[in-house]
Amino acid sequence: MEIEIYSLPAEERKTKPHPSNLGFGQHFTDHMFLMNYTQDRGWDHPRIVPYQPIQLDPAALVLHYAQAVFEGLKAYHGQDGKIRLFRPDMNARRLNASAERLCMPTIEPDLFIEAVKTLVRLEKGWVPQAEGASLYIRPTMIATEPALGVRPALEYLFFIIASPVGAYYKEGFNPVKIMVTDKYVRAVPGGIGHTKAAANYAASLKAAQEAQTQGYSQVLWLDAREKRFVEEVGTMNIFFLFKEALVTPPLSGSILPGVTRDSVICLAREWGIEIQERPITINEILEGLEKGEVLEIFGTGTAAVISPVGLLHYKGKDYTINQGETGPLAERFFQEITGIQYGTRPDPSGWTVLVD
Ligand code: COI
Repeated sequence: MEIEIYSLPAEERKTKPHPSNLGFGQHFTDHMFLMNYTQDRGWDHPRIVPYQPIQLDPAALVLHYAQAVFEGLKAYHGQDGKIRLFRPDMNARRLNASAERLCMPTIEPDLFIEAVKTLVRLEKGWVPQAEGASLYIRPTMIATEPALGVRPALEYLFFIIASPVGAYYKEGFNPVKIMVTDKYVRAVPGGIGHTKAAANYAASLKAAQEAQTQGYSQVLWLDAREKRFVEEVGTMNIFFLFKEALVTPPLSGSILPGVTRDSVICLAREWGIEIQERPITINEILEGLEKGEVLEIFGTGTAAVISPVGLLHYKGKDYTINQGETGPLAERFFQEITGIQYGTRPDPSGWTVLVD
C-alpha cells in the first residue's frame, strides 16, 4: 500500500526542543501517521499528515470499553550520522498479539515497519543527537466505531506519533528505588497482562502513585494468585543476578514480552552467562540479598533501556542492592545494547534496521 504524505510547509514547523533537556514524552514532532480500518475495506488509506488532534465520536468504543493497544520503539541517531531502529519486527508482532487478544484487527508487519520508517524518514531532523537521547515512537490502535454494545468494534484507527526523549527516569542510568506491592495486582492469568493494552497501564497507576508519594520510582508487581512470585516492574521487565545465574520471570501469560528483555537474554547466552527464565519468589530474592547471593537487580524496557535497581522496599523494610550502585553486569548490558542501537558496536544478530 502506498503511504501518502501531506507534509507541513517548513515555515509552519515547530521549534525543536534542546536535546539536553528533553524529558520523556513531552514534545511531539511535526507529523503523524494515520490509517483507518473498516470491515469492508480492511486497513486503508495509510497517510502521514501534520501532527494534530484526532476527532472521535463520543460513542467511539475505545472511550467506553478500552479497546486500545500500543507499542513503543525508538529511532537512534548514530555517530556515523545513520538513523537506526531496534528490532521493529518484534514490535510489529507484539502489536498483533495484543490486537488479537483484544479482538482488534492485525496489521501486516511489513506495513507496520514501512509506516514507522516513512514517518522517521520525514522527521529525521527530530531524532536528537545528544548522548542517551532518541526519538520515541508510539504506534497505537484504537476502536473508533460509535456504539455502546459491549462487542468488538467494526472500525479502528491506527496512528503513530513520535517524541524526542531523554532518559525515562529522572535518575537516568543511576539506580532506582522500587517498592514491592502486595496490596495491588497488575494482571491475572488468562487476563491481558501479556499485551500492551492501554488498560494495563491504567490499572497500574494507583500503586505507582502510592509508591511515588513514598519516594519510590516504581512498583514491583507480584503474581495475583499468591502474591509470592515476582512479575515485572511498572514499565520494565526485571532481572536478578544470583552468584550462579541471571534469573528473570518466565513469559507465563501475565507479564509483557519485552524487546529489551529478549535482547538481554540473547546477549547473556552469547556471553556464556547462565540464564534462567523461571518463577522466582520475592522471599528467594530477599533472602539472597541478605546472604549476599543476589549481586545485582536491573529492569529492562524500551523507554528505560537498562535501569539498575538500588533498593527494594517490602513490608516496611528496605533492602539495598550492590550498595545502591550500578552493577557491572547492568553496565555491560547497557553499553552493549546502546552501542548496537547507536551503531558504535557490531550488530551480529542484525537487530538494527537503517532508516535510509
Ligand atoms: C516502553 O518501554 O516503550 C513502554 O512502553 C513503557 C512506557 C509505557 C513508557
